[in-house]
Amino acid sequence: MQEHKKSFGVFFVGAGMMGGSMVRSLLRSNAFGPDQIGCCSAKDGTAEKLAAETGISVVDLDSETQPCTNVVVLACKPQQLAALSPSATSSFNGALLISILAGTPISKIRERFPNARAIVRAMPNTPGSIGAGITGWASDQTLQPEDASAVATVLGSLGEAIHTQESELDAVTAISGSGPAYLFLFTEALEKAARGFGFDDATALKLARQTMIGAAKLMSESPLHPSELRRQVTSPGGTTQAAVQSFEQGGLHDLVRTAAQAAHARSIELSKL
Ligand SMILES: NC(=O)c1ccc[n+]([C@@H]2O[C@H](COP(=O)([O-])OP(=O)(O)OC[C@H]3O[C@@H](n4cnc5c(N)ncnc54)[C@H](OP(=O)(O)O)[C@@H]3O)[C@@H](O)[C@H]2O)c1
Repeated sequence: MQEHKKSFGVFFVGAGMMGGSMVRSLLRSNAFGPDQIGCCSAKDGTAEKLAAETGISVVDLDSETQPCTNVVVLACKPQQLAALSPSATSSFNGALLISILAGTPISKIRERFPNARAIVRAMPNTPGSIGAGITGWASDQTLQPEDASAVATVLGSLGEAIHTQESELDAVTAISGSGPAYLFLFTEALEKAARGFGFDDATALKLARQTMIGAAKLMSESPLHPSELRRQVTSPGGTTQAAVQSFEQGGLHDLVRTAAQAAHARSIELSKL
């Protein structure tokens, strides 16, 4: 059997929500052209759909055409990694591997890809799907400048990226990985409080949701620390101060610390499975 090779700058294993948004963003920023990006998926047609939408190529890793690529992004689900065939994994020999698989340690990825040039493990979050995320990443070795630049480009497609130690990624998970859900939960609680004042469902949701969106945008555009922005709307003896006092008496800071610690402990547990 003659082996054919197809060359790419970056190849995505998995073309679902995160893989798809990274591809769209890399194309939008002109970091890569469609002819430089390849992808594969399982059998649900996500790779074909993404290719039809964006003009990138699909390669079936089990066919005789193998991708030859400088960078591989692992963007399938952690449990789907085991389904990759040995021929698929060997076609990534010598490539820089960037994994966004939640909870999968670098050592486990190295077992599957013993000949990868370097392995980067990243923990993105869901706002990454609209380019507004923050991703913590660690690598199994000091990266060559060109690899560091590839990591900045690929992870930059999800928003901001910060370098950490691998041992800190469970803490990153507890803060920014799970963090968007904390804001959504707070929004739900505020919506419930609005309903308690007698607003209909649609109005209660609009008041709560737009308040969170507006406050987040203000925080994003202002150079001030969140505590200063809070102080600015908290006049002594006013309505906001009454609410803030009530949150503090109810132990909000301790509650958030306990919640983050629970996420941290669970992240450690899951990465040992
Ligand atoms: N979503 C998030 O906010 C978030 C945050 C942090 C980390 N992550 C990580 O990001 C990764 C992807 O998440 P997602 O939400 O994008 O998942 P998703 O939408 O379910 O996409 C998974 C993709 O992987 C493909 N796939 C499955 N098995 C495969 C195989 N054996 N070979 C090649 N491709 C395969 C799927 O193909 P089919 O559709 O054909 O099955 C699909 O294209 C996960 O590892 C997750 O832990 C996600």
